[in-house]
Amino acid sequence: MKFFVDTAEISEIRELAATGLLDGVTTNPSLIAKSGRKVLEVIAEICEIVPGPVSAEVAATDYRQMLAEAAVLRKIAPNVAIKVPLTPDGLKACHALAQEGVMVNVTLCFSPAQALLAAKAGAAFISPFIGRLDDIGHDGMELIADIVQIYGNYPALKTEVLAASIRHPIHLIEAAKLGADIATIPPAVIRQLYLHPLTDKGLAAFLKDWAGTGQSIV
Ligand code: E4P
Repeated sequence: MKFFVDTAEISEIRELAATGLLDGVTTNPSLIAKSGRKVLEVIAEICEIVPGPVSAEVAATDYRQMLAEAAVLRKIAPNVAIKVPLTPDGLKACHALAQEGVMVNVTLCFSPAQALLAAKAGAAFISPFIGRLDDIGHDGMELIADIVQIYGNYPALKTEVLAASIRHPIHLIEAAKLGADIATIPPAVIRQLYLHPLTDKGLAAFLKDWAGTGQSIV
């Protein structure tokens, strides 16, 4: 499973990139707003740090304006993936961009039917939002299962399932068990993945016993 980080904070991205675990980055207008930075600058900086796909979202809602914005975003770096919302105009833009060989991430997906449309429009990535479905009392993970099953039925569909709106490690593990290709994960959740109390306890015991030997390896 590929790991993308869901943030526009450069310091977080740098730190995670250094672990070698990062395969890409996703941003959205809310994350750009939170960074307090200009979108073109921040995306350019992220693309220099991470060679994998970096999703930059259009802010327009109509097809022509989406393509105009995509033209600007694409120029930043070859690893920019254009993120469009799952609307009729968004999918039309997805189709046009995909025809030109551009990676498109279709975002705000909340149903299997929407995911099927995005794949037919040539999306490189579909972003089903798990957490936001859970928030309204639906089962976000069921959406991942449905999309993985549907795409699996049609090998000609090349769209990767990018599990999004991940709120905790269990979301990630369940999505991985279902075969989602990628997860985009907030930095805080990535840090949680390392943790287990038995690891801490075991390490403390090893260190105590080792100190008792009086040895050193180097
Ligand atoms: C995906 O690309 C989105 O940026 C993100 O996963 C949304 O997550 P949220 O529902 O926690 O805002």
